[in-house]
Amino acid sequence: MTDTSPNLARLGDAARDFIARGRGLFIDGEWRQRDAQIEVFDPATAKRVTSVPRGNAADVDLAVAAARRAFDEGPWAKMTPADRGKLVWRLGDLVERHADELAELEAIDNGKPVTDARWGDVAFSHELLRYMAGWSTKLTGETIPLSQPAPFHAYTLREPVGVCAQIVPWNFSFMMAIWKVAPALATGCTIVLKPAEQTPLTALRLAELVEEAGFPNGVFNVVTGLGEEAGAALAAHDDVDKVAFTGSTEVGKKILEAAKGNLKKVSLELGGKSPMILFADADLDVAIPAIASGIFYNMGQTCTAGSRLYVEDSIADAVHEALAEHAQGLRIGPGLDPATQIGPLVSAEQQAKVLGYIQSGVGDGARLLCGGRHHGDDGYFVEPTILADTAPHMAVVKEEIFGPVLVSATFADGDVASAVREANDSIYGLAASVFTQDIDKAHAVAKRIKAGTVGINTHHVIDPALPFGGFGQSGWGREMGWSAIELYTELKSIGVALKR
Ligand code: NAI
Ligand code: MG
Repeated sequence: MTDTSPNLARLGDAARDFIARGRGLFIDGEWRQRDAQIEVFDPATAKRVTSVPRGNAADVDLAVAAARRAFDEGPWAKMTPADRGKLVWRLGDLVERHADELAELEAIDNGKPVTDARWGDVAFSHELLRYMAGWSTKLTGETIPLSQPAPFHAYTLREPVGVCAQIVPWNFSFMMAIWKVAPALATGCTIVLKPAEQTPLTALRLAELVEEAGFPNGVFNVVTGLGEEAGAALAAHDDVDKVAFTGSTEVGKKILEAAKGNLKKVSLELGGKSPMILFADADLDVAIPAIASGIFYNMGQTCTAGSRLYVEDSIADAVHEALAEHAQGLRIGPGLDPATQIGPLVSAEQQAKVLGYIQSGVGDGARLLCGGRHHGDDGYFVEPTILADTAPHMAVVKEEIFGPVLVSATFADGDVASAVREANDSIYGLAASVFTQDIDKAHAVAKRIKAGTVGINTHHVIDPALPFGGFGQSGWGREMGWSAIELYTELKSIGVALKR
């Protein structure tokens, strides 16, 4: 396991130079080295890429103190909204300028296809930075007429919430960081970011770009480290005003516990088990590729993955055949090969978990339509897999697998109510999709689905302007759009007693 990954040779010069720089923690505008390190592996080969500091609670204290000073006393607090917006926009430009390098770093660190990283993760990130930059100058309050016996002038101010802890996962490491960093910077907050221990590289590269953009020291800090160490210390810290988390529902509940000490604000984007409902009147030329990408994009390691399919009985056989053919045609390989469509999973742990679920599904009586095995001799690959004839009680139907595994069940022809009932039978409620050409049915079903985002004739629907978040145990709060600004601001009411 200590051999260096041969895929390092596939990186461009910029990505290789970044790895060679061996960055430390980024605190108060300075790079700090630490003896304790976390190894970073290439999931395509299970071989070493580099290592990063294993930041601890003392490092979190330093980073939070820097973020506090920058928020309370630094030039950041006095900066005009327009200048702040320009900095955020400039960061978006830098992300775009270094997009190929960032995509390669993500591909070697997480395993994902570099083409998806470039045109999905990174492209979305620079556009989100630009979108949020625009809000900087629009954080207005209101004047509010009061009904007091004495005359009043009352108004509201929208102010940044303060020091923000942002704890992000490994599945879209860079993009998840930007989802949180962009609105926090646009509103004038300061940040301590903790990337996932599996994928710390792009957060450190982001810190270099923040430096280059010219943000004042302490506005943005990165502490790499373990969840139960650096992450837990951040979530519990008394001088943190808000914690934003994306990851498992299990850890989301721990974040909530940890945050309770000082009642810091909490926003959570958690797991999902998102249903896709396919009606017999759908256009299958649209639906089949959309459903396949709904589950297999990013190897199913997507919080919104369309992991449960409900298909109308009369078309089920044809649909299963078409989906299996599509799945078997997907090109499996290392993320750094631009032609790869399915890369490895992020870790040996994730691979074992996913293969274990497939076994449990088959053991519970599901019918394996395709895939089901690991792929290749090294690396954490799992074949795109479809399990048919699944039933509501099975673990593969109830639990988030977070891998390229679709479970499929049928509903009786015309029985819209049972399709909706099955789709809603989950503790989660992040996303869903409905495939039909009947406009009335499409909107009626979309309205009855319990999920934060519903796609009609498409599955993954994300945009910088469109609120994103979960019902049920999929989370608290909405990112993107104005909703994200609300997560990073406090509303203050001011009343002036006027002389009669
Ligand atoms: P996780 O929820 O443990 O990790 C996400 C982030 O939380 C990482 O930065 C981690 O370091 C941090 N963390 C872990 N424990 C913490 C704690 N006690 N206090 C503060 N921060 C903590 O996810 P993990 O273990 O990597 O994956 C396990 C499962 O979680 C996956 O198989 C998948 O089902 C789900 N998951 C869901 C994600 C989503 O986007 N909804 C993302 C990642 C994982
Ligand atoms: Mg964990």
